[in-house]
Parts: sequence; C-alpha cells; structure tokens
Amino acid sequence: MRIKGKSYRTVWMENNTVCIIEQNRLPESFEIVRIDSTEQVANAIKTMMIRGAPAIGAMGAFGLAQAINQMKEPTFEKIEDVRNNLFRTRPTAYDLEHGLAHVMNAALLETEIHKMKQAAMESAKAYADDSAEACRKIGEFGNELIKDGDRLLTHCNAGALATVDYGTALAPMRIAHENGKKIFVYVDETRPRLQGAKLTAFELHEEGIEHAVIADNAAGYYMAQGKVDMVITGTDRVAANGDVANKIGTYEKAVVAHENGIPVYIAAPLSTIDFTCSSGKDIPIEERDQNEVLDVNGFRIASAGSPALNPAFDVTPAKYITGFITEKGVFKPTELYKVKNQHA
Ligand code: MRU
Repeated sequence: MRIKGKSYRTVWMENNTVCIIEQNRLPESFEIVRIDSTEQVANAIKTMMIRGAPAIGAMGAFGLAQAINQMKEPTFEKIEDVRNNLFRTRPTAYDLEHGLAHVMNAALLETEIHKMKQAAMESAKAYADDSAEACRKIGEFGNELIKDGDRLLTHCNAGALATVDYGTALAPMRIAHENGKKIFVYVDETRPRLQGAKLTAFELHEEGIEHAVIADNAAGYYMAQGKVDMVITGTDRVAANGDVANKIGTYEKAVVAHENGIPVYIAAPLSTIDFTCSSGKDIPIEERDQNEVLDVNGFRIASAGSPALNPAFDVTPAKYITGFITEKGVFKPTELYKVKNQHA
C-alpha cells in the first residue's frame, strides 16, 4: 500500500524483529512498531495494534518464527506452547490458526536446530508473500464485478491494513480505480472501534478513491434510495456452508441489501475458510471489553454506571451472500467445496 507516496506492507520481518504499522494511532499518526518478544506479539494482536484476519495470520506466523529463532533448543512442546499463547489472542479470525499451523508444520519437518529455525523463518516469509499475492488476485477478480460509476458500500476495514497488502474488500476497489473506473464508496464508520472512519477512510483517501464516511445506521437509508450498487466486505471466518463471521453489523447490512436487491460480495483468501466449521453456529465469536462501547476515543459517552455488551463479530447466513471473491475466482456460497484444500 502507498502511504504518503511510500510503499508499505502492514507487517514484515527485519532480521528477527517483527515490524508493524500501529493501527490504534491511525489516522492521526503513522507509526511503525518493532517487536522482539512473544509477549509483545500477543499484546499487539490483543490490543489491535495489528488487526484484520489476514494481517493477524501473518503476525502469528512471524511471531512464531521469531520465537522459534529465539529458543536455544526448540522442541515440539516449546513451539506448541508459544503457538497456543498466540492462538488465544483473538478467537474469531481463522487466518491466525492457519498462519501458526503453517510455520509450526514447516519447523517440525526439520530435526536439526539450525534447519528448524531457518524453515520457521522462511515459511513465515513465504506465508506473508502468498497472503499478499492472494489479496492482489482477489483485487483482479473483484474488479471484474465492478462497473464504471458503481457506488459500493463496505463495513469495517478490510483494506491493506487488515492484510499483508492490498486488502480483501478494498483490493477490487483499488484495482477498479487504477483501471480508470469512477467509483464511490460508502464507508460505514463501524462502531465501536471505528475501523471504517479511521482506517478505511484513511486508505481510500491515500489512494484518491472517492468516498464518504456514514454513520452505521445510515446504510439502509442509502440502500433504500437505490444509491448503493454493491456491498463488499471482508470476513474473519467462513464456514463450510458459506455462513460468514465479520465485524459486528455486517449481518444487518447484508439483510437490508438483500431486501433491496443489492448484491453482497464477501472478499476473502482461502486461508479464511474453515471447512471444519459446518455452519456459522460453530464459529467462536470474540467478546471484547465493554469500555470500547461505553467510550469513544477514551472519553466516556454512556451514562455513568451503565454496562455494555460488546460482541466483536456477527454471523451473516449464506442465503444473504451473492458470492465470495477469492484468489481462485468468484464462487457462490454453495460452490465453496470447489476450493477445499486448494490454499497454499
Ligand atoms: O476486529 P477487527 O478490526 O480485526 O475486524 C476486522 C474485520 O472484521 C475485517 O472485515 C476482517 O478481518 C476481514 S479483513 C481483510
């Protein structure tokens, strides 16, 4: 992604240090944080310095590779212990499980310590490269669905910041814009953490893509007026039947879009599809701190003494989803079986 004219990835490795773009400070300040321990990796994921399913997956991969390289004598038990610590940081994003398994399996194929460390690092880097490339392809396939003049709506941030690069939902928009198509994007602000207003709007602005931030409850208003041509979001986990967990509020947008005859596309790499979950009922939903709802930017806005409930994700049933934009093409929810076992 380009920020102030310079190219960045969201997460990368320099020697044995994991580097990330700090997302809690955007858009006010752009900061790169350097991370040297498993505790810091876990903390960065938990506190959402890095967030978005594919970005968390790459962070897990780099974090585990870093830990293996810091171990004097890596053993299965020690590696599994770090893997479990990182795995517990955010429960819904399937990519995390995927990224951790990728590095763990590569390291455990080796028996010599030196080779084990090298395999861990090389597999983490390859995982991040493949993940970025998958998103680029999502952009290419998704671009084919976007017509000149389309008005798109997205929820949360499924941009480059939520992935290693390019984004999922935002990748087709980037490529459509690069190809000279005139598009307009409605950006749901996405309470409680405002990833839409803070991150998606920031990315679209940096890319020069025309957009406007809207209050979360304004989406239906524009859909009913016929001003939205397509909804595209990302996802944190897709079940085998095509049900999708994504940022809280996605379900509502999909139902209202369906009611208004607007297509709903979910952009996701295959690493987000969990074929072990037969339906959305099996997807674990993260509950976050109630202060994220009670406060805005650290200021209490709710009535003193009132508690809050804060599920981070909801499940959109497959019947509301027109198609999945993946790195292998666009598939209907009933066609997902075609891509089983096809990811890198
Ligand atoms: O809680 P977050 O900010 O990690 O949630 C992010 C989302 O819901 C994204 O839509 C999803 O991870 C897909 S990212 C390409």
